[in-house]
Amino acid sequence: MNRRDFSKAAGTMIVGGMVPIACSNTDENPSYEDLVEEIWSHSPPPIGQGSDLMFELVRYATLAANSHNTQPWKFKIESNRISILPDFSRRCAAVDPDDHHLFASLGCALENMALASHAFGLQEFVTLGEDFIQVDLEPRRPDESALFQAIPERQCTRSAYDGRSVSVDQLALLEESANEHGVATQLYTDERALEAILEYVVAGNTAQVNDEAFVTELKEWVRFNKRSVAETRDGLFSAASGNPELPTWFGERAFSFFFKADTENDKYRDQIRSSAGVIVFTAEQDNKEGWINAGRSYQRFALQSTAIGLKHSFVNQAVEVPHVRSQFTEYLNIGDRRPDLVVRFGYGPLMPRSLRRPVDQVII
Ligand SMILES: Cc1cc2nc3c(=O)[nH]c(=O)nc-3n(C[C@H](O)[C@H](O)[C@H](O)COP(=O)(O)O)c2cc1C
Repeated sequence: MNRRDFSKAAGTMIVGGMVPIACSNTDENPSYEDLVEEIWSHSPPPIGQGSDLMFELVRYATLAANSHNTQPWKFKIESNRISILPDFSRRCAAVDPDDHHLFASLGCALENMALASHAFGLQEFVTLGEDFIQVDLEPRRPDESALFQAIPERQCTRSAYDGRSVSVDQLALLEESANEHGVATQLYTDERALEAILEYVVAGNTAQVNDEAFVTELKEWVRFNKRSVAETRDGLFSAASGNPELPTWFGERAFSFFFKADTENDKYRDQIRSSAGVIVFTAEQDNKEGWINAGRSYQRFALQSTAIGLKHSFVNQAVEVPHVRSQFTEYLNIGDRRPDLVVRFGYGPLMPRSLRRPVDQVII
């Protein structure tokens, strides 16, 4: 069967309904739609105190962006202290061999937790240890910031955008929100720079798509239909990247067949060329503390951009493959600092949401 035959067969099976993707919703097995509504919402008042409040802070933390949506975190609650811990059983050895993204993901969770603490009248005092983040909480005046308000709205939107540019004032607001925790950002909006960045993304993507370990790992985290996302409540929902829903067995075969460098690179060309800009995050230090701070800074950018109606998505291929990252670092002219994260932004549609595991599953 060649690629065209396969595609035709896939189309016929989906449209003709030969491949049922059955969904039976019960209280024990809520539907994808019910879970989206439950997960992506603000806590209904009253919030409560003590352990109820701590639980809510953890819930907001889990709404953060995280690499491959593995949700590589655990939380320990002790009185007025919450520790955020890495869950190394969810690390991605192929795409993230040094756990850079894992610790950046913990930073994203920490930032959400800090913003939620402020909203509920608590001030966080953060201690970073070797493999833990300790957050001690003390009373303060409540502050429901626009960033906090945006937490349930934020998503990584992996579609083409509409090409509109972002005003200078809004760009300044985005930079201001991100330039915290010692992280520097570089913002690019002119066509020549975006084309240059695209070349690094394409080079990184080509290397990754041709790397069997990368592809095998990615496939393990792709969820091909709503039922599978609702069951695992983690991973990358293929529909969120604009792909049709497929039964898992069929999706896995289709993935191996269609996931090719050329087609993926064409997607990234469309996506970057339709974006208003790209922002690069570079922490002061290339160590766990720096990676956590890069995650915090990205999360602030993501929430601020959501608050002003923008969409964004990572294009980290330029920093994930070491030899491409060295060349990209030279292009950025940042000396021997390591560029941590690369994100495009612009105006675009809302895509299907990712899910999160139940909060009690991540509390130890
Ligand atoms: C450190 C880090 C690296 C990421 N890298 C990528 C990436 O290279 N490409 C991508 O499409 N998404 C990337 N993501 C986004 C996650 O896949 C996304 O946050 C996750 O699937 C959950 O979806 P949501 O953010 O829409 O809730 C990254 C997220 C983090 C925190």
